[in-house]
Amino acid sequence: MSDQDVDDVAFLTGTDSPTGQPQKKSLYENNGVAACSHNRALCIATIVFALLFTIAIIIAFTGPQSALFTDCTCAGEKPPNYVDEGTNMTRTFIPKATNGQIFPWNNIRLPTTLKPSRYNLTIHPNLTTLEVRGQVYIEFHCEKDTHFIVLHSQNLTILDKLVQDKRGHNLTIVKILEYTGGQQLYIETREKFKKRHNYTLTIRFNTRLSKESYGFYISSYVSSDGDRRYLATTNFEPKYARTAFPCFDEPHFKAKFKLTIFRDRFHIALFNTPVVNTDDLGFYMGTGLLRDDFQETLEMSTYLVAFIVCDYTNLRKETERGLSVSVYTPPPSKNQTYIALNTATHILDFFEEFFGIPYPLPKLDLVSIPNFIEDAAENWGLITFRDIISYDSKQSSTSAEQWIVKTITREIVQQWFGNLVSMKWWDNLWLFHGFATYLEYLGVDSYYPNWRMMDQFIIDKTQPAMALDALVSSHSINILVQNPSDIDNIFDTISYSKGAAIIHMLCNFLHEEVLQNGLNDYLTTYKYSTSDAKDIWNIFTRNTNQSLDVKTVMETWTHQMGFPLISISKEGNEILASQTRFLLTADSGNATHLQPKSKYDYKWYVPLTYITSNDSEVVNSVWLNMTDVRFEVDPDIKWIKANVNQSGFYRVTYDEDMWQSLIQILKKNHTIFSTADRASLIDDAFTLCRAGLLKATIPLELSLYLVKERDYVPWATAIEHFQNWARRMSESLPYKLFLKYMRYLLKPITQYVGWKSSGSHINQLIRSKVLSAAVLCELNETVTQAKVLFQKWMTHNETIDPNLREVVYSSGIKFGGMAEWQFCWNTYNSTNIPSERRLLLKALGQPRGDPWLLQRYLIETLDRNTIRPEDVTIVLEVVAANPEGKLLAWRHLKAYWPTMHSLFGNSTSMMGSLISAVTAHLSTPYDYYEVTTYFTGMNVGSASRALQQSLEIIQLNINWLNKNKEDIYTWLRKNLN
Ligand SMILES: *[C@@H]1O[C@H](CO)[C@@H](O)[C@H](O)[C@H]1NC(C)=O
Ligand SMILES: *[C@@H]1O[C@H](CO)[C@@H](O)[C@H](O)[C@H]1NC(C)=O
Ligand SMILES: *[C@@H]1O[C@H](CO)[C@@H](O)[C@H](O)[C@H]1NC(C)=O
Repeated sequence: MSDQDVDDVAFLTGTDSPTGQPQKKSLYENNGVAACSHNRALCIATIVFALLFTIAIIIAFTGPQSALFTDCTCAGEKPPNYVDEGTNMTRTFIPKATNGQIFPWNNIRLPTTLKPSRYNLTIHPNLTTLEVRGQVYIEFHCEKDTHFIVLHSQNLTILDKLVQDKRGHNLTIVKILEYTGGQQLYIETREKFKKRHNYTLTIRFNTRLSKESYGFYISSYVSSDGDRRYLATTNFEPKYARTAFPCFDEPHFKAKFKLTIFRDRFHIALFNTPVVNTDDLGFYMGTGLLRDDFQETLEMSTYLVAFIVCDYTNLRKETERGLSVSVYTPPPSKNQTYIALNTATHILDFFEEFFGIPYPLPKLDLVSIPNFIEDAAENWGLITFRDIISYDSKQSSTSAEQWIVKTITREIVQQWFGNLVSMKWWDNLWLFHGFATYLEYLGVDSYYPNWRMMDQFIIDKTQPAMALDALVSSHSINILVQNPSDIDNIFDTISYSKGAAIIHMLCNFLHEEVLQNGLNDYLTTYKYSTSDAKDIWNIFTRNTNQSLDVKTVMETWTHQMGFPLISISKEGNEILASQTRFLLTADSGNATHLQPKSKYDYKWYVPLTYITSNDSEVVNSVWLNMTDVRFEVDPDIKWIKANVNQSGFYRVTYDEDMWQSLIQILKKNHTIFSTADRASLIDDAFTLCRAGLLKATIPLELSLYLVKERDYVPWATAIEHFQNWARRMSESLPYKLFLKYMRYLLKPITQYVGWKSSGSHINQLIRSKVLSAAVLCELNETVTQAKVLFQKWMTHNETIDPNLREVVYSSGIKFGGMAEWQFCWNTYNSTNIPSERRLLLKALGQPRGDPWLLQRYLIETLDRNTIRPEDVTIVLEVVAANPEGKLLAWRHLKAYWPTMHSLFGNSTSMMGSLISAVTAHLSTPYDYYEVTTYFTGMNVGSASRALQQSLEIIQLNINWLNKNKEDIYTWLRKNLN
């Protein structure tokens, strides 16, 4: 806010009318507006608004100046530091307002003395000039006497402000200050706000539509006739509502919102609730403008507010009880929304029944947004998605379909879990996303049982989360969030996936009925309000009749980083299961295992499940209560397999004999184990080897059984580890032999899945997975067949089955040349099918023997019109995963770091994922030196954790290679002959 604006404080405050709106009537008469005869109330609202936009400027400059706060005696005084409910959010420095004065509120969090209850928001965006004019009217309740308001505002030009009490009397504003660092606005009044009284604050402001993908921003798509069409849309989570209008932008300040929006005739406007009235604004707003008034929302958090102005079309369907669900897309994609629409209605019905609580809003809209940095945002009643919710049966693959169904399901779960009940503060983000993710899989599983979602859960969530959480640079889920930038920092795999995985573990040891009753109890107790982890643990405990102290159990998983390794050993008829922290670290000495300090000393309450050779159907369980445990088994058992279906968040190892028995049984009759158990054995064996706890020959021996494996989840797990081994070894001796070994294992399964795109959902997924892996290791038959299909497509325009495209595109490029690459590049630039663009982006990073192409591809990422910012990570990831592109990608990151920083900003998780993507496969001491040297002394902002993790991973890669490459080489030579 400029000094000029600060001087504008006189707006309306100087009038002596008791209503504060003395000019309303005369304006009405002077302009003789006739169009307003039928709806008097709305008409008055229109007049008020017209007043604000056409006359207020004059008033602002002619009205008496009520206060000159620059020489106010209280300038520089600090109110006592406010510390919120036991957390330590106090700033350690003195904040300065934009005019140089001390900003009197020294806390990142807002005071809780005032509680907003209602916002009436009027927004007039112009999609041509990008100007936004707005007015917000906030009703609030005073909880404790005070003489100032602190609320959020960022990049808004505040024009006028007015504070009134309930009867419409103005309070005199004596000071208004803005603190950019905290995105806070401080408004001090001469009269006190009195406890239990209600007040209102009206602010008129200007801003511009952002060009970044957050806040209130401009986006565009290309219509079928090639025109660029614009839309304005919002993305507020976690803290960008404040860039669209002044507000109390913390999740616990729930209020009701009413929106009025001005738009051009050829647009529509959408909000969390439906439109209740549309008025033609006639001549005083200029010709052609319409104004939509929307129904008031229920009590909700600011980050869930959303509004959109666009020229979309929609398809509509009703749920069983008649709730209206619509999918809005740009007109060209209209016919690709059936899957989205059917999923949304089905899943809404499912969760209304499951939670036992009806969806509380009058409608649900799903909107596809061309530039969207997240997969989706769960705004209440107006969910926004990346444009890949469009599905075309001739063009989209099975995994694209699965992605759509999953994403929609998760966002719908959040309408209850997150929106109806919200988190108290962002440090509980993991809880809400964790439950939403777990319930997403449960919901999809109910809709499509043969997709085997609960098995897929472990490869999507548990395994990746364990891979990260085993690093020294991990963090506990429960993390102190002090700063707005910390909020971005915690949106990472640990919050999302570990959160989901430990909730999965919890739901597995709670009885199904307890889970469902507990959730109903929880949502009913905390609806329209906020809560935290403690609340939900207590509710679950209550629902187990106090038989299990859920809070005590769960806090060992949330209040310390990492997870345990359970070592199983058998002595006679007794099994000893002992726990230690599992760490992927060079030295496995006890010292590191206990650093940094944890109040639980890295011990956990572990629900250990197991099956034995006596009966592989019966799942037994036993608790490790922050201790080790001994239990009896039949002395004759040949093996025991713990962590059944990998539903627990821990690793398991066995003594060498037991590993050998497990390997033998896998080779002999692997179907004794469930698919998830096979995946879990593979994952544990490879990871324990990575941690230096198993020699490489164990995972290698174990993997031999894969020649007989025909199922998706074990293969997906194995391929992930094979690819990592191959990339790490790409510059060392065993590399070529290892590719040969992969070919040996993959050959039978590639023959089994064949090239005919048919069979179940899971069959489609496995076909695509194993054929792609076969291309990576250059399996001749697969490559030849894929090249044939590529040539037919390129030269005769023959369509490729959507499920085979990934394989065909990547081999076309990998084993092709300039012409093939250029053909794909042109297709990428001309297709309007989002899933197609994604596949092509991945394929384009795979050429061999032509650094020029890779280099050119990298350079294209700097042009945000060619490659969207949210896709840049994909490009760098595939180039870095290509042995020939690894160093190019790293050089590119170095050369263009400042450019990328200015393109993608510091405030999102983007820079962090770029670092992880580029450095993931570096594995020499020289690489390590390079990366440390480059980043030394550089402020990488919210990417700092990703940087630490990346350095740790490079170091691990180096150590692992040193330790294992000889053994691997020897074993491969012996076994491949
Ligand atoms: C709060 O933070 C300040 C500044 O970092 C520190 O000096 C103080 O010890 C902290 N207090 C608590 C209770 O953690
Ligand atoms: C704001 O909306 C509420 C609810 O519809 C209404 O009662 C109130 O008069 C509105 N206030 C203003 C200033 O528009
Ligand atoms: C935006 O500005 C253009 C050009 O000034 C004007 O034609 C259009 O009507 C405006 N639209 C809105 C919604 O104000």
